[in-house]
Amino acid sequence: MAKEINNGILKVGGVSCDKLADTCGTPLFVYDQEELEKQLWSYKKYFRSDLFETEIIYASKAFTCNAMLHLLKQYGFGLDVVSGGELYIAHKADFPMDQVYFHGNNKTIDELELALNLRCKTIVLDNDMECKALIDTAERMQKSASVLIRVNPGITAHTHKYIITGDMDSKFGVALNDEKMLMEMIESINNSQYLSFEGFHVHIGSQIFDLKAYEILIERMIKRIKKMKTDYKIEIKALNLGGGFGVRYTEEDEPNSIREVCERIINKCEAELKASDLSIKKLMIEPGRSIVAEAGYTLYRVGYLKQTPNISYIFVDGGMTDNIRKALYDAKYECDLANKMDLKKTIKYTVAGKCCESGDILIENAMLPKAQMGDLLVVYGTGAYGYSMASNYNRLNKPAVVFVKDGKTRIVIKRESYSDQLRFETDEEVIV
Ligand SMILES: Cc1ncc(COP(=O)(O)O)c(C=O)c1O
Repeated sequence: MAKEINNGILKVGGVSCDKLADTCGTPLFVYDQEELEKQLWSYKKYFRSDLFETEIIYASKAFTCNAMLHLLKQYGFGLDVVSGGELYIAHKADFPMDQVYFHGNNKTIDELELALNLRCKTIVLDNDMECKALIDTAERMQKSASVLIRVNPGITAHTHKYIITGDMDSKFGVALNDEKMLMEMIESINNSQYLSFEGFHVHIGSQIFDLKAYEILIERMIKRIKKMKTDYKIEIKALNLGGGFGVRYTEEDEPNSIREVCERIINKCEAELKASDLSIKKLMIEPGRSIVAEAGYTLYRVGYLKQTPNISYIFVDGGMTDNIRKALYDAKYECDLANKMDLKKTIKYTVAGKCCESGDILIENAMLPKAQMGDLLVVYGTGAYGYSMASNYNRLNKPAVVFVKDGKTRIVIKRESYSDQLRFETDEEVIV
């Protein structure tokens, strides 16, 4: 994405980063709304087929809030939720519940009840115990839902590598080759008065660049769908291929365009279905990060600088509390001094957060102009799994989130205050 720079200051969505920081404080999550909408539009445009219906289901774990849900509604997206909390937020935003898919490997009875009460259309079952729990809950409540079963196809893919593992030890899903388990689950769903079995869900990993992984996945899934039909007379109406499409965090990353992703998946599905003389009613995908990651920026104020024998540190006013991905997965990011965009990058810095953890490092070996206290550091590509994984470790307040478009800024999530953090503190006796 081309950077917009004016007088050496970075602009996002037509607004200067220094003004954003001065007005809204730091750390600050800034979303370029036009970029978000561009991604939504591309998925809608390219994920289409003449052979089957298609649905794009946004994985709300990547980043969710009222404003995001309204954009998704506007563009006709479905929604993947994995907890009662994500479901509740969707409900409060009036998100159409017939487009919500409830995932997760350990949904509680309370969560299943909430989903059924809110008329969440599809529950994605992870395992046989959950299947029984859902059947019992639906019968007790006399409420209906559609069901997908999450299967584990024995393919794991991350970044450039995909592995055909045959390894069925993932915590997620039922092994695709465990016919007995699948048949038992499908039979008990079909025997239930309130549930209808629709098909399979699968998700093979994250930040996947090699689309061959999806092609192999599709071959496996269609083969299984064929077998279900010929051996057991079971029709798979819906196939959900999950998300995981790679994005550009650093210049080493070379993601496929959304168009390429959609066309490869649709073409492969159409070809495999034709070759197997099969049809499905609906194909779904579940992108998360590829919609929000690159539209998001984090602004930090530079505090102290420290020189050790080997490292020049820049300390910023956030850290692992607003971006845990470096500590969790050694994720790589790029940054700039947003107020010194036209100066030469002469010094190699390590950007560290303010938390009481040696692992609270955001970026290593970042080439930047000479930094000073008060500078504004921008980290790119933080729109996915940043705010949604934010914590109050060390009692830091969660940052604010703004959407910017055409020079206008909207605060969509307020900055937390210290008193917000105290709202659950109490001292009441309970009778146990
Ligand atoms: C079931 C499921 N669907 C979709 C996603 C979205 O993945 P991504 O954000 O990488 O597109 C995830 C991410 O973990 C997932 O677990």
